[in-house]
Amino acid sequence: MAPSILELKNLSREVKGRNGEPFVIFRDINLSVRDGEFVSIVGPSGCGKTTMLRVINGLIPPSTGQIVVDGREQSGTGGDLLMGFVFQGAALLPWRTSLNNVLLGLEGRGKNPSEARDLARKYLDLVGLAGFEQHYPHELSGGMQQRVNLARALAIEPKILLMDEPFAALDAQTRSFMQLELLRIWSQTKKTVIFVTHMIAEAILLSDRVVVFSHRPGTIREEFRVPLPRPRDMEVKSDRRFVDLENTLWKLIEEEVKAAGGFARL
Ligand SMILES: Nc1ncnc2c1ncn2[C@@H]1O[C@H](COP(=O)(O)OP(=O)(O)O)[C@@H](O)[C@H]1O
Ligand SMILES: [Mg+2]
Repeated sequence: MAPSILELKNLSREVKGRNGEPFVIFRDINLSVRDGEFVSIVGPSGCGKTTMLRVINGLIPPSTGQIVVDGREQSGTGGDLLMGFVFQGAALLPWRTSLNNVLLGLEGRGKNPSEARDLARKYLDLVGLAGFEQHYPHELSGGMQQRVNLARALAIEPKILLMDEPFAALDAQTRSFMQLELLRIWSQTKKTVIFVTHMIAEAILLSDRVVVFSHRPGTIREEFRVPLPRPRDMEVKSDRRFVDLENTLWKLIEEEVKAAGGFARL
């Protein structure tokens, strides 16, 4: 069994609410992730998934608890040196080419320019964008833009890749292709991935483990190992074990949504 690369211990995040009362976004998160593992987090909208990724990445501090990466407790900001972050939707600078968008992630990381360019090209290649280095974002499809975002996150060669609903803005067909592409890229890079999605089938297809969050304040309600062999393709979705897990997860999330006030509140 690979050692754990990321440990979250009693992690919580609380802010001051509108009336001055504490507003707990998520709490009591204990999670241990193995090196090279693909873990998805699913849960109702507003349960604190994005906030938790931002805390893990060191963009905002936790209110309680610890984040341990590779045996070292993270303090303050700077976790982003160890982690790549792929956000939901467009995060590319429109006036920069693909290559220069990827280079953006490498700036200020002590690489000399030719080293940085080599890395940027390597990862654009890996995500399937060889030949598109000089294209601007408006010349790329939505799927290709997310490939650039992925290359940017990978180019810093992070220990951990954090992905926040990266395919949410894509049409269904492109999304399916990107899921398969992510499986290919993951198997080639052997990265540890924490992947947030609201799509249950996406979580199962991609992951070794799916963690279900409760409604806010988000906490881990249950987690499931995905009992499906790899490599996987779309056919795995009709496997009995896939369908069973999908139903189980759907029921849990439905319960959480109801507990949070029902579908009308989404
Ligand atoms: N700085 C903040 N101050 C007040 N409320 C916040 C703050 N950040 C997030 N929230 C609230 O916390 C909840 C969880 O947000 P978020 O992490 O975006 O959830 P998710 O990604 O699961 O949909 C939301 O209700 C959001 O409005
Ligand atoms: Mg979110």
